[in-house]
Amino acid sequence: MVKVLILGGTRDAVNLAIAASALPGTDVIYSLAGVTQNPNLPGCAVRSGGFGGLEGLKAYLIDAEIDAVIDATHPFAAEIAANVFAACRGTGLPRLKFLRPPWVPQSGDNWIEVGLVADAVSYLRDHSSTVFLTIGTREIAAFACLENCRFLVRYIHPPKDGVPLKNCEVVVDRGPFLEPGETELLRSNGVQYLVSKNSGGDGAAAKLAAARRLGIPVIMINRPAPPAGGIAEAQEDAIAWLQKL
Ligand SMILES: NC(=O)c1ccc[n+]([C@@H]2O[C@H](COP(=O)([O-])OP(=O)(O)OC[C@H]3O[C@@H](n4cnc5c(N)ncnc54)[C@H](OP(=O)(O)O)[C@@H]3O)[C@@H](O)[C@H]2O)c1
Repeated sequence: MVKVLILGGTRDAVNLAIAASALPGTDVIYSLAGVTQNPNLPGCAVRSGGFGGLEGLKAYLIDAEIDAVIDATHPFAAEIAANVFAACRGTGLPRLKFLRPPWVPQSGDNWIEVGLVADAVSYLRDHSSTVFLTIGTREIAAFACLENCRFLVRYIHPPKDGVPLKNCEVVVDRGPFLEPGETELLRSNGVQYLVSKNSGGDGAAAKLAAARRLGIPVIMINRPAPPAGGIAEAQEDAIAWLQKL
């Protein structure tokens, strides 16, 4: 048996873990950070929670007798990606980064591309507007300094500890989302700017199509660079890599 650790947290990672589990001679452990309530799960063995940094991850790889690692974490999860890279280098384990392609602007899109969340905040400081923030909820506090903007924020679960923005409407909903619903959400809330991370994938792309349809500019936060080494953009390429092990 080849024992594979798949670090997940996205729908694509769940699908990859399901496909990898179906390979003969492959034993998959799916790892989650453990921050999302009721996460989507692949049906194989699952472990949840951080490893305790690089040394904790190295110790886990050795103790659990892992043979290979696929890092299928979110494109913006830079800390765990760097730890997986260093832990696999340190233990000599084969590692693959599974990274869906970024979105690219299409005809009719009006993207303002920035490198960091802080750059999106700086841009909006000079553009008083109603803003749909779709960057995950952990970093929205960075926008609290903008008293010139009104915000719309979407949560998977009702926020237990409140929202760190004063002038803010909350929507509770879970994707994947479709273009007609996203268009109606943007239109009915009078959204003038959409802020997004360039996550890529199909599950969250409808908001971009809706913005295009309504002529709404998108402040697009570009991805951090992935660690060096092999990257698979498609599930079949990651499965082919596993089959070669
Ligand atoms: N939209 C989405 O579905 C989605 C999902 C995830 C992340 N993101 C984006 O990515 C950014 C960073 O997210 P993040 O906190 O997950 O990544 P991170 O900042 O790279 O990771 C922070 C810590 O969480 C633990 N961790 C992360 N993924 C793990 C996994 N699969 N298994 C076990 N432990 C894991 C690790 O803790 P230890 O150091 O203790 O091992 C890691 O050091 C967020 O701001 C968000 O925008 C989006």
